[in-house]
Amino acid sequence: MSPIATSTTRYSRILGTGSFLPADRVTNQALADRLAADGVETSDDWIVERTGIRARHFAAPDQTASDLALPAAQAALEAAGIAAEEIDLIIVATSTPDMVFPSTACMLQKKLGVHGCAAFDVQAVCSGFVYALSVADSMIKSGAANKALIVGAEVFSRILDFKDRTTCVLFGDGAGAVVLGASSEPGILATELHADSRHVDVLCTPGTVAGGQVLGSPFLKMDGQAVFKLAVGVLEKVARSVLEKAGLTEADLDWLIPHQANIRIMQGTAKKLKLDLNKLIATVDEHGNTSAASVPLALDVAVRNGRIQRGDTLMLEGVGGGFTWGAALLKY
Ligand code: UT7
Repeated sequence: MSPIATSTTRYSRILGTGSFLPADRVTNQALADRLAADGVETSDDWIVERTGIRARHFAAPDQTASDLALPAAQAALEAAGIAAEEIDLIIVATSTPDMVFPSTACMLQKKLGVHGCAAFDVQAVCSGFVYALSVADSMIKSGAANKALIVGAEVFSRILDFKDRTTCVLFGDGAGAVVLGASSEPGILATELHADSRHVDVLCTPGTVAGGQVLGSPFLKMDGQAVFKLAVGVLEKVARSVLEKAGLTEADLDWLIPHQANIRIMQGTAKKLKLDLNKLIATVDEHGNTSAASVPLALDVAVRNGRIQRGDTLMLEGVGGGFTWGAALLKY
């Protein structure tokens, strides 16, 4: 890696985005029908009204997080006009890794057919992508990396208890990626990360592997109302804080891309920030909650459909298990 000598401020900028959804698109009605066969009652009406979700994608039984990450990463590299060999840092944000170790980032590096660059996972559940972006931004600004591939990739369908209707209708699988590169132009303007471990129990998958067995529950558990209340509180606060750090106000925002968990939380955050709802990027209706993949998936969709243009000011926000949250303010 050859550090770029600069006399000006060194920023990190998004050079390209990509995403990937597994082929199996499951509508609420199709999911309700599958669940009914096991005596679990839900409906399209309930899911749409409470969450805004209409469909989600589920990975095939043999598809892993790195399998979803690979096409998302390739699309981001292509959009950036960068060869995989030029990447000197890979960070994958995931809570559903391919295996206990090596990291999903190492599995992705292998699938990209490259070797040598730093590769590691970040585990901050639904805040994972914003955490990974912030780490990569710091590494680029410090000169430790020049071109980073940051991916959020999840197969949450693997950890869903399909007998628990309060959680299994909410999540989906997918991957989103960005290539971040060193630049004299801003770039990521400000980031902020938080965790409050007093709430570790509100959203967790408490099992672990030991002695050749899974110990504890391998399924996701969530106190939905507690998470809802925590989320609406922190998302407005952290957005205002990163705006202040960058010397901007909410009036400077072109787009808000919050974690895609529930349209009510997302619209509530936009309203608290006094943002017109047409500045909210929402893909939760088609993706469900894809945890660490949700923000880069939504970002890529909005870039590719032309809503987000070069020079726009974006607020990305993550929130989820840990309890974790964070935001990244950037010029696209
Ligand atoms: O990714 C990390 C971030 N996660 C989130 O942000 C999730 C935050 N939480 C939420 O989005 C919402 O709390 C939920 C969507 C999970 C739940 O919505 P809610 O409006 O808080 O519903 P509730 O938990 O108060 O449940 C209302 C009723 C209950 O029935 P009773 O007790 O009123 O008779 C539930 O048993 O809805 C029932 N219910 C369902 N009914 C049909 C719960 N799940 C379902 C379901 N289908 N799938």
